[in-house]
Amino acid sequence: MTRREWLIGGGILAASARRVIAQMAHMAPMPQAPPLFEPREMTPFVDPLPIPDVMRPVGTRLNSSGKPVPYYNVPIQEFFGKIHRDVPPTRFWGYGKSVPGPTIEARSGEEIRVEWSNRLPSKHFLPIDHTLMGAGKGRPDSRAVVHVHGARVPPASDGWPEQTIVPGESAICTYPNQQEPALLWYHDHAMGINRLNVCAGMAGLYVIRDAFEDSLNLPSGEYEIPLVLMDRMIRTDGQIYYPVSPVPDAPWMPEYSGNATLVNGTLLPYLDVKPRKYRFRILNASNARFYFLSLDEGQVFQQIGTDQGLLPAPVAVGRLELAPGERADVVLDFADHRGRRIVLHNQSFTLMRFNVASDAATDTSALPKTLRAVPKIAESTAVMTRRLSLVEVDNVLSEPSIHLLDGKRWHEPISEKPVLDTTEIWEFFNLTEDVHPIHLHLVRFQILDRRPIDVSTYVYDKKTLYTGDAAPPEPGEAGWKDTVRVTPEASTRILVKFEGYTGRYVWHCHILEHEDNEMMRPYEVIAPARK
Ligand code: C2O
Ligand code: CU
Ligand code: CU
Repeated sequence: MTRREWLIGGGILAASARRVIAQMAHMAPMPQAPPLFEPREMTPFVDPLPIPDVMRPVGTRLNSSGKPVPYYNVPIQEFFGKIHRDVPPTRFWGYGKSVPGPTIEARSGEEIRVEWSNRLPSKHFLPIDHTLMGAGKGRPDSRAVVHVHGARVPPASDGWPEQTIVPGESAICTYPNQQEPALLWYHDHAMGINRLNVCAGMAGLYVIRDAFEDSLNLPSGEYEIPLVLMDRMIRTDGQIYYPVSPVPDAPWMPEYSGNATLVNGTLLPYLDVKPRKYRFRILNASNARFYFLSLDEGQVFQQIGTDQGLLPAPVAVGRLELAPGERADVVLDFADHRGRRIVLHNQSFTLMRFNVASDAATDTSALPKTLRAVPKIAESTAVMTRRLSLVEVDNVLSEPSIHLLDGKRWHEPISEKPVLDTTEIWEFFNLTEDVHPIHLHLVRFQILDRRPIDVSTYVYDKKTLYTGDAAPPEPGEAGWKDTVRVTPEASTRILVKFEGYTGRYVWHCHILEHEDNEMMRPYEVIAPARK
C-alpha cells in the first residue's frame, strides 16, 4: 500500500466520505473560468502605489481601569475600487472603503478599542460551500468576525470563528497592545467562509510601535511603506473570480491562487522613490499563494524583522519567501540607483516598479548593525512536547479533499490545554507533500528546527524515524514568529511560551481554503493549578 492508498483506505476517509461520494457521482470536468484579465498583457506601472490611510479614532472610551483610550469605529461594507487604470471598478467587501483597510497605528502598552460594524449586503458575491463546518444552509451569508493576527488579546476580543456578527450588528473589541512592536494585521475569521471574506477584501494592517524602535532611527514617515500582497483572478468585467469545484452543492476548492497580484490593492503599480533608504513592511495576505520575492539586478533585501518584530540584526536576503500570514520587515537602499527603474518580482511574475529619482537625496536614517535583542528560549524550559500531525485525505481522484490537524476535526473536544506562563514544544509532523503555514493565536514563538522524517514509519509503525539532520531556522526566521512554514515529510519544532490570557483560542493552517475545511483546531490556555 502506498501512503496515498493508506490515506484513501483508512478510517479518516469516513469523515469526508460524503464529499468523495458526491465527487464520484459527478466526474464532471472543472467548470470553465470566465474570461480573465491577463496581467502580462496589461500596461504595467501606470497607477501609483496607494498607501492605506491611517485610521482615525472617533473618540475615547474609559477602559476597565477608568482611563480614556482611543475608540475606533470601522464599518465592514461593500464598495467599489479601481485596481488598475484599464480595469473597470471592482466590487470589494472590506473595512472602511479601501483594500487593504485603513491601518491601525498603536503604541506598545497602550490599549485601544475598536467597534467593528457589519454593514454588508445580505447575499455573498463569492460561492459559499454549505457542506463545510460552520457554513451550513440557513446561516446568514454575510457573517463576519475580525481577528488581529499576531495580537495578544483576551479571548473575547480575539475573533473566535463562531462569534460572527451579521448585518446591523457590531462587536466592540479591546486590544491591550501589551507586546513588543510588530506589524500585525486584521482580517476576517468567519467559520467556513473565511477564505471568501478575505478574498473579497477583508484585511488591513495593524502596527505596534514603541520608543525603543523609534530610537533606532530606521527610515520612517514617508520612507516607511507597507506592501500588502494579495493575488486574485480578475474577470474582464473587473470583478473578482473565485473558482468552484465540479460539484454544484460543494463548490469548495483546495487552494485559491490568482494570476493578478495586487500590491496595496493595485495591480502592477509604481512607486516614485528618492535615492535613499526605505523601510518596507511586507505582508502576504493571500489565501494560499507563497511568494518568493526578488529585485532586479540581484539586489538584496536587508531583512530587519519577521512576524513578531525586529530580528537581532539585519540579514541580507536575495530571495524573500513569505507564506500566507507571514510578514517581513526590510530595508532597501536606492542610494546607488539614481535614475534607475527597479522591478519587484515574485518568481516570474512582475509585482511593481520603483522609479528612483535622479537627483541626490539626503538620508539621515540608519540601518543599525544590531536591532532588538531576541533572547533565545532554552529548550530545557519546555514542560512538554506535543506531537501533532498534519495529514491530507485525498478523494478517489487523488485530489486533496481535506486536511486535518492531529487527525481531528474542528468540533472534536479540545486536546491542547497549555498552562498559562509555561513553555511547550509543539512538534508538527507534516505527512503531506505541501508546505502548510501553521499559525497559533495569542502567542509568539521561536522556531527550533526542521528535520526530515520517514512518513510511512510514522504512519504504519507510529514511530518517528528521522532521516536526516535537524536544520535551524533560516536567518530571516530567527526572531519571534507567529506563523511557521511546516515543510513536507518533515518535523518542524517550535518553542512556545503561553503568555497573556487564559481561555480558548485557535491554531490553524493559514492557507485559508485548508483552514475553512477543518484544518483548524481550538486550544485552551488554562490557569496553573493552585498549590
Ligand atoms: Cu491570520 Cu487565525 O489568523
Ligand atoms: Cu492570528
Ligand atoms: Cu494547509
